[in-house]
Order: sequence, then C-alpha cells, then structure tokens
Amino acid sequence: MRGIKILGGKTLHGKVQIPGAKNSVLPIMAAAALCGERVTLERVPHLSDVECSAKILQRLGCRVMAAEHFLVIEPAGELQSEIPEDLMRAMRSSIFFMAPLLVRTGRADITMPGGCKLGARPIDIHLDGLAKMGVMIAQSAQHLHLTAPAGLKGADITLRFPSVGATETLLMAAVSARGQSVLRGCSMEPEVTDLVRFLKACGACIEGEGTRCLTVFGTPNLKGCHYRICPDRITAATVMFAVAGCGGEAVLQGACEEDLQAVFRVLRRGGCDIACKEDEIAIGRYHTLYGAGNLVTDVHPAFPTDAAPLAAAAFLRAQGTTMLTDSIFENRFACAAGFEKMRAACGVQGRTICVQGVPRLAGSSVHAPDLRGGAALVLAAAQAEGESIITGIEHIARGYEDLAGLFVQLGAQAGYIQMQDSSSLLNVAAYA
Ligand code: EPZ
Repeated sequence: MRGIKILGGKTLHGKVQIPGAKNSVLPIMAAAALCGERVTLERVPHLSDVECSAKILQRLGCRVMAAEHFLVIEPAGELQSEIPEDLMRAMRSSIFFMAPLLVRTGRADITMPGGCKLGARPIDIHLDGLAKMGVMIAQSAQHLHLTAPAGLKGADITLRFPSVGATETLLMAAVSARGQSVLRGCSMEPEVTDLVRFLKACGACIEGEGTRCLTVFGTPNLKGCHYRICPDRITAATVMFAVAGCGGEAVLQGACEEDLQAVFRVLRRGGCDIACKEDEIAIGRYHTLYGAGNLVTDVHPAFPTDAAPLAAAAFLRAQGTTMLTDSIFENRFACAAGFEKMRAACGVQGRTICVQGVPRLAGSSVHAPDLRGGAALVLAAAQAEGESIITGIEHIARGYEDLAGLFVQLGAQAGYIQMQDSSSLLNVAAYA
C-alpha cells in the first residue's frame, strides 16, 4: 500500500501550474462517444479516473491515445452497449456513459456507479429526465437496463435539484435527441459550462450557456473537435487553502479567477491577501488567520462542496471558530477523524463540522476516507509539527495528479512511501 509522508510545520512559498479540471474532462470524455469524428483534448490531467474513462471508451470500441496532457479519441463505427461492473464501480463518472450509449446503440446495460462515499448519491434525476425522453428503464438493486426503442425525443424537463451529473447526462441525451429539449433548473457549475462549450464545438445547438435553463436543438451527427479543458478550480482552492493554513505565499498559473470568487471571499475574510492579473492568482498569508465563522456550501456560484474539507483543514489553527455546513452531501466531513488524531479541536454534527482553532497540530498516521477528505488530511499534516503519514491515497490519485509533488513545489517536505501495512514503513522514500 502506498502512502504520503509529510514533515509539517513549514510556511509555503512557490509557483504552481493549475491542471485541467477532473470534473470537466470526465463528462467530456463520455460525450466524445457521441461524436462521429476524432476528438482531441488539451490540458488533460493525469488522473486514475481519466485512465478509467479511457478504459471504458476502449471497451465500447473507441480508440484512445494519450500523450503528455493530450488525449485523442477516435470514435468507433459500432459501440458496445455494456460497461463491465468493475469499471462502473471504480468512479461516479462512469454514469456519464449512459446517455451516449443510449444515443449511439439504443440501449445501456450498466450497474450503479461508484465514487466517494459522501452520502446516498442516487441517480433518480438522471433517470427521470431520460424517461421523459422516451427511455425505458428496468432497474434492480444495482443493475440498470435502459433501452430507447424509438430513439430519444426532445422534452421539456425540470430538474428537481440542480444536479451536476444529471444536467450533464440530460445535455448529452438532448444534443442528439429528435427535436427540441428545454432543461430547467440546471447546474451552473463551471464544469457544466465547459461541457456545453465542448458540445457546441462539436456542432451541437445549445442556448442558455451559463444559466439554469438550457435549450437544446437535437443535432443527429455531431462532428469531432479540438478542445482545451477548463482549469481545475478545486485544485486551485486546495493550493489556496494550503497557503492559508500554513502561511506564506503562492502564485497559481492558469487558474480561472471568476470560478473562485466564493473561495476568495472566505480566504480574504480569514486574513489572506489575494491579487489577480491575467491568468495568475497570487495569495499570501503573513499574519493571523481568523476563523471563517458560519459557512454553508451550496451550488455554484456559492461556496463549493468540494472545497469544504479543504477549508476545514485550513482553519484548524485559525484564531476563532469555523462552522462549516455542507448542504450538498450528507457525509462530507469523514476526514474529521484524522483531524482529531492530529489534535485538532473539531466535531461533526450531521452535515456540519465545527472547528475551534488550536495553536498547534501534531503529526499522526491517518487514513483518507475519500478524495477531498484525503487532500484535507494532507493539508492538515502540512501544518502539523512532526511527521504524518496519510494512507488510502488511491482516493487522492482519482482527483490530483501528484498531490505530494504539489506541496513540494510549495516548499513542503513530502513524498510517497511504500508500506507493507499500517504499522511498518518499508522503502521509505527520501523526501522529494
Ligand atoms: C459532481 O458529482 C462532482 N463529480 C462532485 O465532485 C461534486 O461534489 C458534485 O458534482 C457537486 O458539485 C463529478 O463531476 C465527477 P450532484 P455529482 O449530482 O454529479 C443528489 C469531487 O470530489 N442527487 O450534483 O454526483 C446527490 O445525492 C466530486 O471531485 C440526487 O438526489 O453531484 C447529492 O446530494 C465529489 N439524485 C446532490 O444531489 C440524482 O439523480 C448533488 O449531487 C443526482 C444527485
């Protein structure tokens, strides 16, 4: 088993390049299966979820070639309509292939998707919308058999909640459905807008970009395109909260400041200095960090749920209290157990974590419960005195290219270790 070993307590100083967005490249890779011509993607992050999506595309019959941060996806004449269970369960994003399969083959045989255990995470909004487009759905506990015997027809659909994934599923279904669709109550997350822009670059006809109401005119034969993935705002938030927690400064290259306004507000309120010019964001924290008070996550443009554990970690040593409530997922703060092992003063009640800042944290061995909780534990360990080891980093690799390396670029002492089990450390790598 691999782990991250980090010697905390240093202030951070460095410049980092923000990669392409995980939550944009994954739906776009699925949408490439809708296209009849080659799709070339730029600024593709090296993530295990991207590798998994590439495997699914290949199992469906597409050719996928990867080079550095590029991906080339050659469509298949005929697509398979079944996705193996192990690939479906490996991540939440496998669900994005449901709509392209229905469009291209008229059926989809899949199991429920995997993904971080943040709560129930049903897919009813996806399925209700597809049913309105003429899809027949047979569902057992974990298996789904979907057919579109007469193809997909445009529909007027109101999402009961602005689900990111359901918006993306219904967009992919609507762009190739017969006639017009109106999708109301959509997610406005930047990654959804990136998918809209990708589909338009492939010839889709979509109005309402960046709003909660998308009007789609079905286009039977989508072309291919060359597309550059938008920057990952959550990786940018990770770096910024790391600087807030550890102190020091960083320059982020390639981030998109308009996607981060809610994050900026929380950081500035805590005492950080933030300046933006062109595609660079500079953040500094040179004095006391103050607790964030009451903070509630919500759908974009509010404070993002994925940044909530990162914010909690940043404020563990702040002066004052931070009460963070996640309105999106039921189980967002499983990382609190790791914070407590590092002697943080925090507790979780329902969807809320309450953090009372303490003067210091102590290094410990902790386990990542999920992707952003794992990143939050690394962020806490970077503040702690002494050594910490974070295991379960396969969760972290799903969403970060090289999180230890990112901290090293910021001046931290971090590296990967190979462990036989949680008690012994073998081949401990020298700090990078
Ligand atoms: C996407 O997940 C992201 N993942 C998540 O990022 C992100 O946290 C989430 O959106 C919210 O912004 C990807 O894009 C791959 P939702 P998704 O559907 O689509 C409920 C990360 O760390 N819901 O907007 O699964 C659901 O249970 C990951 O990068 C239904 O009830 O999120 C949740 O409570 C974690 N029925 C809420 O809506 C449905 O049919 C938001 O879910 C769908 C969702």
